[in-house]
Amino acid sequence: MSFPFHRPRRLRENSVIRKMVSETNLTPDDFIYPMFVTFGKGVRNKISSMPGCYQFSVDEIVKEAQKVYKLGVPAIILFGIPEHKDEKGTEAYSPKGVVQKAIKAIKDRVPELVVITDVCMCEYMSHGHCGVIENGRVLNDPTLELLAKEALSHAKAGADMVAPSDMMDGRVAAIRDILDENRFDDIPIMSYAAKYASAFYGPFREAAESTPSFGDRRSYQMDPANRREALKEVEMDIEEGADIIMVKPALSYMDIISDVKETFDLPVAAYNVSGEYSMVKAAAKMGWIDEIKVMMEIMTSLKRAGADIILTYHAVDAVKELNK
Ligand code: PBG
Repeated sequence: MSFPFHRPRRLRENSVIRKMVSETNLTPDDFIYPMFVTFGKGVRNKISSMPGCYQFSVDEIVKEAQKVYKLGVPAIILFGIPEHKDEKGTEAYSPKGVVQKAIKAIKDRVPELVVITDVCMCEYMSHGHCGVIENGRVLNDPTLELLAKEALSHAKAGADMVAPSDMMDGRVAAIRDILDENRFDDIPIMSYAAKYASAFYGPFREAAESTPSFGDRRSYQMDPANRREALKEVEMDIEEGADIIMVKPALSYMDIISDVKETFDLPVAAYNVSGEYSMVKAAAKMGWIDEIKVMMEIMTSLKRAGADIILTYHAVDAVKELNK
């Protein structure tokens, strides 16, 4: 493979040939767009740390869902900001919760749009942790019951898929069991399987109003230093019945995406999280980078690393770009 017999530049000269030999191709079907739903009517609150993202009330999110579906986005993932938070996260599994209402309203008006729900307690708990607290500790097993109830309530409201993001041990099995017992055996689970305790979630916590009131999430989310442990987490979730496995965050964790893709046969999702999004937005606003080019390069890199599916706040822009 040596010069001058081999000249890799030969295949780079012409744009048609470049495309022909391109190893990674993005399509609009690769994307899931995260959206925030809140209580009230006619609400469209700008999220200052995530330019272009909003908290929508149910009536407004329906309009927005119609719009993004028309643009070619195939799926959304919903996060809820409830009116009341308490120690049991009651609104997470209430049939009258904001997410449950939004699912129904969206599926009524835009039935083809795939509606996925984030299953977690942090947005609904007064203390902002992802599980039940006792003596300052997040309890694992009592939290499983709440998560299972929450997932079931989403399925009952019409969700197409549920996505647990809490990182309690055993949650995938608990959710699979309750869904199956209630004849929702056809609803897939996308598990946030390798989810790290990351500072890149900062802007999201403003968006979802879910910052823990004490401590941090390091007793349940993974240590960013660990690579092998991600495979263990993913394997456990697959054994418990996960259909799609996710790595989160995405950019600083491409080695993990690649390992997971190499090791397992399930579809792999990567979550390009809020901090990753906001950094691009901020640098673009300063005029330091070309936002669309950098964004498309990031998306391509995630797919090249092994992601089959990308969850990103850039989804609408990426799909627009791909449909140009
Ligand atoms: C809920 C949840 C979080 C994110 C997705 N689901 C926040 C967290 O774990 O603190 C982060 C998403 C993002 O930063 O874009 N547990």
